[in-house]
Amino acid sequence: MLVTGAGGMLGRDAVAAARAAGHEVTPLTRAELDVADAAAVRSAFEGSRPEVVLNCAAYTNVDGAEDDEPDAMRVNGEGAGIVASAAAAIDAEVVYPSTDYVFDGDKREPYLESDPVAPRSAYGRSKLAGERATVAANPHHHVVRTSWLFGLAGKNFVETMLRVGRERADVSVVSDQVGCPTYTAHLAPALVALAGSDRFGVRHIAARGECSWFDFAEAILGRAGIACAVNPTTTAEFARPAPRPAYSVLRSERSEATELPHWREGLDAYLTERSERVAA
Ligand SMILES: NC(=O)c1ccc[n+]([C@@H]2O[C@H](COP(=O)([O-])OP(=O)(O)OC[C@H]3O[C@@H](n4cnc5c(N)ncnc54)[C@H](OP(=O)(O)O)[C@@H]3O)[C@@H](O)[C@H]2O)c1
Repeated sequence: MLVTGAGGMLGRDAVAAARAAGHEVTPLTRAELDVADAAAVRSAFEGSRPEVVLNCAAYTNVDGAEDDEPDAMRVNGEGAGIVASAAAAIDAEVVYPSTDYVFDGDKREPYLESDPVAPRSAYGRSKLAGERATVAANPHHHVVRTSWLFGLAGKNFVETMLRVGRERADVSVVSDQVGCPTYTAHLAPALVALAGSDRFGVRHIAARGECSWFDFAEAILGRAGIACAVNPTTTAEFARPAPRPAYSVLRSERSEATELPHWREGLDAYLTERSERVAA
């Protein structure tokens, strides 16, 4: 397996999960391979001849993308097409992680694979372009929409809450955006398991359950034993450059859907593994 964006939050867990599953892995960080450089991608794939490419490279600054849509599109859209097509040229499957932000968030029940897409943000548009480029370039594709990732190898909402909770007596968090926080160490083995399965196409894989960012913040601080009050606020009061879907819970309607543990189990596992690392 070859993993692009191997220095990122999901990329690092994908490399670990692939190795744990017994695969020989070529991890390539952004410094080692720019997915938007077609010649470099072709040469890297021809050199290591992977059977599966996990394309974890992405422009993930959701707010930054509003002012920088061409750059987001270059990595998430064109880069995805380059990776998928170079993989097809060596008969390799491609796995492209995508996002709940391809939906507008107007639904009030879980989004299924067949629901119409309508991204509200530049980031969401760039990821949708990447989905389409991946599907068009390689028949052996797994486009995996997931949501609200947190993992030990990257900046994430859990770390922000732990830091802010220790610094302040209270924190305001939006209660009108609902989704599924998904632990990357739970997602990564599921991505690896798709390889060689012949179950191509678009699929949703996210943690079980749903919550608002406010609920998630309360759970993080409560589980960590930090005495910081969490106050609910609204998206309108907490203005940010990129619009986010109000509701983006993902479920799969596929017969062989992948089930992940509940987000509370993901949070528990994250905090346990985090404290073991600190102790080591
Ligand atoms: N984070 C979430 O909440 C979330 C939710 C749903 C879906 N996803 C999707 O999950 C995937 C992994 O995201 P993540 O959270 O692991 O993000 P991440 O930590 O930002 O990882 C992305 C990696 O890609 C690298 N990268 C950026 N531009 C590149 C380029 N041109 N060529 C090669 N590598 C490049 C980044 O390097 P630098 O750090 O040096 O820029 C980073 O190491 C992405 O497809 C993302 O869209 C994420």
